[in-house]
Parts: sequence; C-alpha cells; structure tokens
Amino acid sequence: MGGRSQEVLARRGEIMRRALGFDYAAFERTPIAFDYEGLMASHGLSLDDVRAIQRAAGVGGTPLIELRNLTDLVRSYAEPGYGARIFVKDEAANLAGSFKDRRASVSIHVARERGYEGVIAATSGNYGAAVASQAARAGLKCIIVQEAFDSRHVGQPEIIEKSRLCEAFGAEVVQLTVGPELFVVMLELLEETGYFAASLYSPFGVAGIETLGYEIAEQMRGLTGAPPTHVVVTHAGGGNTTGTARGLRKAGAHETQVISASVDLTGLHMASDTDFNRKSFTTGHTGFGVPFATWPDRADVPRNAARALRYMDRYVTVSQGEVFYATEALAKLEGLERGPSGNTALAAALAIARDLPRDATVVVQETEYTGAGKHHWSQLAFARENGIEVRAGDPADNVPGKSIVIPERPEQIRARDVDLDRLRRSYVRNALEHAPAGYEPTAEDVAFLAEDAHTTPEAVERIVAELRG
Ligand SMILES: Cc1ncc(COP(=O)(O)O)c(C=O)c1O
Repeated sequence: MGGRSQEVLARRGEIMRRALGFDYAAFERTPIAFDYEGLMASHGLSLDDVRAIQRAAGVGGTPLIELRNLTDLVRSYAEPGYGARIFVKDEAANLAGSFKDRRASVSIHVARERGYEGVIAATSGNYGAAVASQAARAGLKCIIVQEAFDSRHVGQPEIIEKSRLCEAFGAEVVQLTVGPELFVVMLELLEETGYFAASLYSPFGVAGIETLGYEIAEQMRGLTGAPPTHVVVTHAGGGNTTGTARGLRKAGAHETQVISASVDLTGLHMASDTDFNRKSFTTGHTGFGVPFATWPDRADVPRNAARALRYMDRYVTVSQGEVFYATEALAKLEGLERGPSGNTALAAALAIARDLPRDATVVVQETEYTGAGKHHWSQLAFARENGIEVRAGDPADNVPGKSIVIPERPEQIRARDVDLDRLRRSYVRNALEHAPAGYEPTAEDVAFLAEDAHTTPEAVERIVAELRG
C-alpha cells in the first residue's frame, strides 16, 4: 500500500468519528473489554422508535409464510414422528429486496436527523442497494464503493446486478478490483465529502435488524400460538444473527434456538484475485462467516455491533450445490422464487427440520429478491465459464472452487456443524493478539470475553491458560 493510503489509514479514527457522529472511545473499558450494551443503546432509539422509523421508510412488516409442501417433503423421508414445520420470513418484500433495508433505514434516518448531506457505504452486496434506496427516499446523496471485478475486469454477476440496482436508485457507484483498497477509498471519500458513514456494523444498523427477530416471534405467536423453536439465519458479517437474536429476546422468545448457516467455501481466499470468481455466492459464506465470528472487530468501525458468536446456539454449513437445490425446491414446490442468500438458511433448515420432532417450528430467516445476475441459472452458467464442474450427485463431493454437486434427492442435504469451541478459542486468541504485547487479561476482560463468546468465564480462563502455556 502506498504512502497516501498509509496517511489516510492513520487518520481513520478521526475520519470515522466525524463520519459517524460519535466516539467509540467512550465505550472502551480495557485493552480488551468494551461496554457492548452501552454502545448498542448509544443511539437512544427504542425498538418501538425503530419500528416507527421503518414503517415510515417502507421497511419491515414482511410476510411470514408456512412452507407446507417443503415440510411434507421433509416428512416423507424423516423418521416417523419427525419433520418440523418450516416457515419463511420473506424479506424480499422490503423495498430494495432484502433484510438489509432494515439496517439502512436506521442509518439513513440518523444521517438525515444529524444534517449530513449524503451517505457512503463500502459493500458489494444487498446493503448497497438498501442504502441507495433509503437515501433516495430521504433525499440524501449516496456513494456505494464495491469490490466488483477480478484483475481481468471480469465482474461477479451478483455484484454487477447490485451495481445496476444502486445506480437505478440514483447512487454513484465506485467499482474496484478485488484488493485492499476498498477501505482506503471509502475513508478518502468520507473525508472529501463529509458524508455520513452508513457502516453495516454500526449500532444503528444492527438496531434495524432487531425488528426482524421481534416480528418473527410475534408472527409465529399469531400463527402457532408460540415463538418458533428454531430460527435459521444466513450468516456472514454477523449482523443478521446478532440483530435477529436480540429482537427475539426483546419479544420474550428466550427459548428459541438461533442457528447460523453459511455456504461452505473452505479453501477459497476472499482477498484472492483468482478465487474471486470461483465462488457462486458473494455473501452468506464461510469466507466471511468464520473470520467475522472469530474476530468481529475486523470491520470498518472500531467496534463491531454485530457479534455473532455471542448469539449463535449452533453454526452449520451447507454446500453450494445444496443451496442451488433448495432454491429450485422453493420455487417448484412453494411457488416462491427467491435469491441466493436466504436459501443458504433454507438448505440448512431442510436438514435440521428432518431431525426435529413434528411439533417443532423452524423459521427460515430470510429470503432476498432474485433476478439477473443473482439468479441461480446465471450463477451456474458463470461457474461453468470459470471452469467449475457442475453436476448432479452426492453433495458431500462438492469442492469449493472446483465442483458444484447438486443433490439428486433432498434427503442428501446435510447441515454440518461447525465446532463452536474451536471458534471460541480462535476468538480469544484474536482478542489477546490485538491487545498490547504482554497484557494480562483482567477479571473484567474474562467476563467480557465469556459473554462475547457465549461461554463461561472458566472456559475463557482455560483457553487463555492453554494459549499462554
Ligand atoms: C440476503 C442476505 N442474507 C444474509 C446476509 C448475511 O448477513 P450478515 O452479514 O449480517 O451476517 C447478507 C449480507 O451479507 C445478505 O445480503
């Protein structure tokens, strides 16, 4: 990275402070611990306030639909007495077509209230369209910075689809090749324009997702008399898991298990130019899901409000082929053609529901719109063009970046558990590595790490002792 980039990065704290309108330093407690709930409450908005903001913004209140045909399908091969009821929360019904509108609506509200002229977000996914759509409604200018191409200038169809949508909403789109400059360009633009940083990872954004968990609990109470027993959430940067789980708790659904799901892209490197176009999913995959779970503060803000490890009861992976199968099954059996990311949670839910009793209820959160580059046929055609073998067979034979094996039968779909203790260990290791050399964690740090990793202080102490041993 050049000297100019280094200079901009050195000013990062100051640029972000102005661009977000608050100082994260106020919440720091020790070199490891910070006041997470203090940060989450810093915007001063109650859940009801957020619901009102979203209603005015045309966001939320999306349908929750029972998938009776998929439930029947699962029951046809589950053991007798097994096969939970499956439901879907249709987030494609939001204005820009995904749950990301919930995040964007709160950030744009705050930006407008505080008198910013425009907003900037660095994102290659649905969030860009969500910010652009909300900014259009609020009359704010909008710049979206995307990593869109590999060095041959070949764009991932899903990302190019996103560029089109952002431009349709009137945003200026800055397209970059894959590499480290995304963050630097965003900082430079923030400094140059004085716009608001609509970070995915701010407390505003995550507060916007809490309404999703809240609505799921309420709508399931209406449909079945109780909150769901399980919610399956597509996981990448962690906001979806965090906001949904917090919203469920705010609705009193303390028994609901939150299961995060990602597409398994093990072996592909997210910052690699050659791997960039060898994946059929641009989000909801392990390339983001694992690093963000084990070190959430790798975000574009000093402290990430999305802390998935705090909230996940289970973390499972599915293969690309299984998600394509689930996408077609949803369309062909339920008449619902939806986009790639939500179908990650759907594929996992098909496997999970099979092993649960019939009276269990599984909500698949969420769907997103589909079309053009997002469509599974364009993704499969693109995969073939990039030398990926696409065939039917046993999905256990999927090799990310080499083959996509579409199941021949639904009973071949499997949700594979990620070892949460292994993630907790990496998280604690990362926390120690980011503290100053030789720093000894205090009792406050241990308590913080235990909460952040959803474990006990004793378990954290054991991990610290092992790592130090
Ligand atoms: C439709 C959709 N589902 C799920 C995710 C994952 O959400 P998160 O990054 O908050 O974990 C994303 C974002 O990347 C998304 O756009």
